[in-house]
Amino acid sequence: MKKAIIIGATSGIGQEVAKCLLLEGWKIGVAGRRQSSLENLQRAAPDQIQIQALDVTQEDASEKLNLLIDKLGGMDLFLLSSGIGFQNMDLNMEVELNTAHTNVAGFIRMVDTAFTYFKKNGGGHLAVISSIAGTKGLGVAPAYSATKRFQNTYIDALEQLSYLQKLHIRFTDIRPGFVATDLLNDGKHYPLLMDAAEVGRHISWSLKRKQRVAVIDWRYRILVFFWKMIPRWMWKRLPVKTN
Ligand SMILES: NC(=O)c1ccc[n+]([C@@H]2O[C@H](COP(=O)([O-])OP(=O)(O)OC[C@H]3O[C@@H](n4cnc5c(N)ncnc54)[C@H](OP(=O)(O)O)[C@@H]3O)[C@@H](O)[C@H]2O)c1
Repeated sequence: MKKAIIIGATSGIGQEVAKCLLLEGWKIGVAGRRQSSLENLQRAAPDQIQIQALDVTQEDASEKLNLLIDKLGGMDLFLLSSGIGFQNMDLNMEVELNTAHTNVAGFIRMVDTAFTYFKKNGGGHLAVISSIAGTKGLGVAPAYSATKRFQNTYIDALEQLSYLQKLHIRFTDIRPGFVATDLLNDGKHYPLLMDAAEVGRHISWSLKRKQRVAVIDWRYRILVFFWKMIPRWMWKRLPVKTN
């Protein structure tokens, strides 16, 4: 039976992907800070699920991830779905720095631990959920868009490192558009909002095909295609914001 670890499975996209993998017969190890959510998930399929509470911003997160891999008896697929994001036009410093702690420091901690595991154990599939927000800097959410761009670049770098070291690691960078989850539960209106369960199914399909980059869904693929072509002088003038 194939084994997957999902960090950030206590809600939202990570939890939806977890449900899909369970239906496909995977054994999964799930993590997040909320112990009660992890226990609820485990009750649904106790024979298939191992749990571990961890906070990616804490130094012991790497050790706890390794503990979860041990509990599961190995890892074929690693998926990082933990992340936070806020609109922050007032540049509240704490919000910006917390976003960086989770989406940059926490991201490095988890992804490097998974990379090292695969390096020592003959390879595997390393996947992350970044965002289309990394395409260009968004004035309404500076830290969020910049940290997502960081994640895109970090995975490019790890792929090259893996090649240099002749490792057998496959990479998937999943970039969804707006999804109806707790992350966007701020009372604002988001256009082209997607259903989380539908996005979860799309992601498990992309993982099965080991796609290198998966922009979800097709409408966002078109948007990102044109978005990338906007010159800087025009980009700074665009009123990209939600109400
Ligand atoms: N929703 C969207 O529109 C959208 C679009 C593009 C990309 N994304 C990305 O998708 C990912 C999942 O977000 P979501 O939309 O599913 O939101 P969500 O429902 O809020 O899920 C976020 C997950 O991250 C975990 N998490 C947050 N901080 C953590 C920490 N310090 N340590 C461990 N786990 C932590 C949360 O678990 P605990 O709270 O239990 O720790 C939760 O399981 C994020 O990386 C987000 O940037 C979302």
